[in-house]
Parts: sequence; structure tokens; C-alpha cells
Amino acid sequence: MSFRAGGDQLGKCARKGSGQLLGYLEAELSDRGMSDFQVSSVGCLKLCDHGPIMIIYPEGLWYGAVESEEAIDEILDACEKNQPCEKYLLT
Ligand code: FES
Repeated sequence: MSFRAGGDQLGKCARKGSGQLLGYLEAELSDRGMSDFQVSSVGCLKLCDHGPIMIIYPEGLWYGAVESEEAIDEILDACEKNQPCEKYLLT
């Protein structure tokens, strides 16, 4: 999930609730026992029209329109299967 540098909440991703979703993502990873995943936030990725953005490393999978808890669930479901989640894939 990305935010404007300096904590500015005016970015498009923040307006789409990326801050709240970050908390959900962390809780969901914990609930699923996915302890090998770490969450970090970044500044604006200049893909604002496609945000919120979620990137999975080391696979290098970029997901866009991660605007809901359901989207996060679908992406984490795919991660657990070691597969990309085609529905939200940007690359
Ligand atoms: S504010 Fe999210 S990509 Fe620009």
C-alpha cells in the first residue's frame, strides 16, 4: 500500500482507504499464520489511478485496485497457493 511521502493523507490511495486496509492486511496475515510475510508501506508509486497498489516480493507481483478487504483476501488466498491473483495483477 502506498501513501504520500511525509504522511500526507491527500493521495488517491489514502482516499480509497489504504491506511485502514493496511491494518486489515497485517491482521489477516497474522490470522492465517503467514509469518514469513512482512508488511511495509511506501510513498506514492505514481500509479495513482490504479491504486491502492500492493506488491509481493520476491515474486515481483504488482496488484492494483486493492480497495477492499475482499481484494486482500483474494490476493492472500493466491499467495497461499503460490499463484498470482490474476484479477488484480498489473504486470
Ligand atoms: S497515491 Fe497511491 S500510487 Fe499514488
